[in-house]
Amino acid sequence: MKKIVIGCDHGGLELKNDIIKHLESRGIEVVDVGTYTNASCNYPDYARALCQRIQNGEFELGILVCGTGIGMSMAANKHNGIRAACCSDTFSARMTRMHNNANVLCLGGRVVGAGLACDMVDLFVDTEYEGGRHDLRVAMMAEIEKDN
Ligand code: RB5
Repeated sequence: MKKIVIGCDHGGLELKNDIIKHLESRGIEVVDVGTYTNASCNYPDYARALCQRIQNGEFELGILVCGTGIGMSMAANKHNGIRAACCSDTFSARMTRMHNNANVLCLGGRVVGAGLACDMVDLFVDTEYEGGRHDLRVAMMAEIEKDN
């Protein structure tokens, strides 16, 4: 069975809760690293909490939601081995799995509605990485991490 780790800040709380309901209705196990209230908080804390659960091998895929998805994606991409994609369309959500082997989908709670977000989540969760010619490029991104 697939399982997903999910996190948000106050700007993404409502959309995160909609996504959790959607994933659970599909029988997917969801672990929520917070935040759990509307109180203002700092998105890097939640990006870090989620990325650590992927880095330690507990989860393969995660979803982060903030107001725009941008801060979460910037913070997540500071972590070794994390390939986070901020998406607001279904084509990108699918392609970033196929070509970039993205392991974190970042969404903007103030950008997209729940219907579109859940369609993107479905594509992200259900699409496999294509490998092949993309392996070199993904490996080149890991090389950049090493150099830094
Ligand atoms: C919080 O107001 C907002 O800045 C945050 O959710 C996010 O959009 C940052 O990128």
